[in-house]
Amino acid sequence: MSEKDYSKYFQTTYKPDEKKKKPKSAEDVGYSQKEAKRRGKEEIMVVNFDPIPDELKALGNGKTYCLVTFGCQMNEHDSETIAGILENMGYTSTEDEKSADIVLYNTCAVRENAEDKVFGHLGALKAVKMERPDMILGVCGCMSQDESVVNRILQKYQHVDLIFGTHNIHRLPILLRDALYSKEMVVEVWAKEGDVIENMPKVREGGLKAWVNIMYGCDKFCTYCIVPYTRGKERSRLPEDVIAEVRDLARQGYKEITLLGQNVNAYGKDLTDREYLFGDLMDDIRKIDIPRVRFTTSHPRDFDDHLIEVIAKGGNLVEHIHLPVQSGSTEVLKKMARKYSREQYLELVRKIKQAIPGAVLTTDIIVGFPGETEEQFQDTLSIVEEVRYDSAYTFIYSPRHGTPAAGMEDDIPEEVKKERLQRLIEVVNRIAREKNEEMRGQIVELLVEGESKTNPDVLSGRTRGNKLVNFVGPKDCIGKFVHVRITEPQTWTLKGEYLALVEV
Ligand code: SAH
Ligand code: SF4
Ligand code: F3S
Repeated sequence: MSEKDYSKYFQTTYKPDEKKKKPKSAEDVGYSQKEAKRRGKEEIMVVNFDPIPDELKALGNGKTYCLVTFGCQMNEHDSETIAGILENMGYTSTEDEKSADIVLYNTCAVRENAEDKVFGHLGALKAVKMERPDMILGVCGCMSQDESVVNRILQKYQHVDLIFGTHNIHRLPILLRDALYSKEMVVEVWAKEGDVIENMPKVREGGLKAWVNIMYGCDKFCTYCIVPYTRGKERSRLPEDVIAEVRDLARQGYKEITLLGQNVNAYGKDLTDREYLFGDLMDDIRKIDIPRVRFTTSHPRDFDDHLIEVIAKGGNLVEHIHLPVQSGSTEVLKKMARKYSREQYLELVRKIKQAIPGAVLTTDIIVGFPGETEEQFQDTLSIVEEVRYDSAYTFIYSPRHGTPAAGMEDDIPEEVKKERLQRLIEVVNRIAREKNEEMRGQIVELLVEGESKTNPDVLSGRTRGNKLVNFVGPKDCIGKFVHVRITEPQTWTLKGEYLALVEV
């Protein structure tokens, strides 16, 4: 990795020992969201993670880290890498923020309430930091890539020791060393990236289900969304690297993988040396001996017929498709720059349902986008009725710093937004309940994940469609596949009756 010239990424790293002026804003450390928006033509380089230098390998011996994750699956998976790096430096994990030697917040910037939570934690930790000045408090993840957040931390949360961005995770050993040996905040946030870093250490939880990144970044620039700024441009991992990782997970006995990306079905578009898209990757992964393969998130615009055809082959490719719609109104979709109309979305759903019987469709929906009329909101209610989603994540629009929508007049009163959300949730829940009701009496295959959270006598598992089913059964089926009969469908979960262990 050392031959890479990072200067072209417009960043400067603030290192306290360089005698530069102490940074007061993101600009002073060379980070700007405008730069993050630019999509350059630089070659994407696939580089190997530099081994952790020997002198840093024992840095954490006898010490603990507490890593708190606030974001999406991608964020969770990044946390697995961060944990991998820290454990390779000798640190062990703890859940206690108050006693940990390192506290790291892996943050999410997608909505304001996600950010508020982090600022709450940062505020609360100030007293702990005063008492134990030797602890390291760090902020990473998507909020670090938001200029306004970096400014706020630099100005108001000076007890933070370290800020690093989503493109800087592989630099953690060095950054941590800098933070430990300096009295001032270490900030490294790169606006640009061109790299795919392979072979970073990872600590995966549980041994049953694993996330596998297939691509990074997003080039869609939906007008409300901060992710293209926080995660950089779309870049795919090489198919051979993804496949090797999946094979390795299969060998280790993992039962389910989820292919991850902000926009997984844009996979391969940036691979200049070959014609190989997401459908091709899925078709190759289908042949690997891992019982279940999921993916998230797919964008309706990039959902091509070949991908539908491949998913329809079934086998280990499960029939659950998370297909964010965001709005049912073509005009709103246009303002969101989603690049499809209501009709195109519905046509895609029709094709999916025809090719993949029993497909479980889930979605994301935003209410109260600037200028959304009551009628346009009703288009959202009606698309939910038409598609009949099994479940949906529903959100109130939250203006994000630096995005085009933040410049639009946020003209819907808060009460109206809340009321729309409530009405939407009612429809979503009613349909979810009806869809679950359709499963009454059916025999389904579950991957048994463990004891239910509320009652250790009850086990829970997930169907291929990702529905959570609780049942009473022998403990030794944890980690295995079973058949159960659905006896009592509810809105969010179902109850079942244990039938038998199955080989998958
Ligand atoms: N890449 C995924 C989604 C990532 S963000 C996709 O395109 O589907 C997850 C969800 O958060 C989005 O689908 C959207 O519904 C919601 N979201 C994103 N930005 C938002 C904002 N500014 N306000 C409210 N919800 C938002
Ligand atoms: Fe955000 Fe749109 Fe990209 Fe999803 S596709 S991450 S909503 S910009
Ligand atoms: Fe949040 Fe970043 Fe994921 S903004 S949703 S953690 S990509």
